[in-house]
Amino acid sequence: MTNLSSAHDTIRAVQWRGDHLRLLDQRLLPAEEQWLDCRDYVAVIHAIKDLAVRGAPAIGIAAAWGVVLAAQQSAPMDQALAELRAARPTAVNLMWALDRMKAHIAAGADAAALEREAQIIQDEDLAANRHMGELGAALILPGSGVMTHCNTGSLATSGYGTALGVIRAGVAAGRIDHVYAGETRPWQQGARLTMWELVRDGIPAKLIADSAASHLMKSGAVKWVIVGADRIAANGDTANKIGTYQLAIAARHHGVKFMVVAPSSTVDMATVSGDDIDIELRDAAELLSVAGRRTVVEGAQAWNPVFDVTPASLIDAIVTERGVIEHPTTERMKAVFAA
Ligand code: MRU
Repeated sequence: MTNLSSAHDTIRAVQWRGDHLRLLDQRLLPAEEQWLDCRDYVAVIHAIKDLAVRGAPAIGIAAAWGVVLAAQQSAPMDQALAELRAARPTAVNLMWALDRMKAHIAAGADAAALEREAQIIQDEDLAANRHMGELGAALILPGSGVMTHCNTGSLATSGYGTALGVIRAGVAAGRIDHVYAGETRPWQQGARLTMWELVRDGIPAKLIADSAASHLMKSGAVKWVIVGADRIAANGDTANKIGTYQLAIAARHHGVKFMVVAPSSTVDMATVSGDDIDIELRDAAELLSVAGRRTVVEGAQAWNPVFDVTPASLIDAIVTERGVIEHPTTERMKAVFAA
């Protein structure tokens, strides 16, 4: 399956260039394919905050390279680590990658050793995605339609993707014959990024309005909803892009299965349940405008939480590179992730 799935895997959006980090600027896709060069760790922080790089694993990997830049430039490391950590609150991959780099700093690693560690983090993510692709695709009956939300592909990871990796592997293996992608208001990760990846890799896909999801599920056209995650708590509750929770509710109502795909770097066993996850609130301007043009009356206010928590009870399977956890509970999570 690996060779077949490699055909659907052509994008590398996070690239280390020895003395700077090159990012495919996700704010501009699909209209422009422009690269952003981050030459110090502060530029990496801006790229994470402004969503030039986004998606939980990609944020963690970019932050690890930010630490390397800080070390190369002899920046105060404690300050660099703290500032990088504060860039975004919900995706635990950010904290996970920084803790890993911090442990190496504490062990006396120099800039060259930190560079090797960041590369290992990036390479491990790609290997995890390929393995999860095979594990997740094996759960899907041949000829199925599936739905996904947000962007969980090569753009959001070191390559291949998490939920989109399962979709890539499932298409390659003939298990998935059609993909529906929700547009993912307000930032439109599904419309702008997932559709860009799917079209580019020749995967049969249709965009739907977020509000068409229940109608789609009722039609019987999809057997699985497949999503990524930003943080999975110890009991299996899963934070992911806003709108994921309502998809899980609709999926259960319609007998559609619900799969979460994420590497172990997204699992946070120190967080007991989803109630303890910090949900990022972003600028209301993201809701009040479309493509930089104001669409809502002046004076209007908006509430813009960009993640929500899907309770474990609505999840049929969590797929990680360590294995598949069906109907997750604290006990089942501990069996795989106990320290
Ligand atoms: O705000 P974003 O675009 O960083 O949110 C991304 C998501 O919610 C993804 O679904 C999640 O990070 C998984 S990416 C493999």
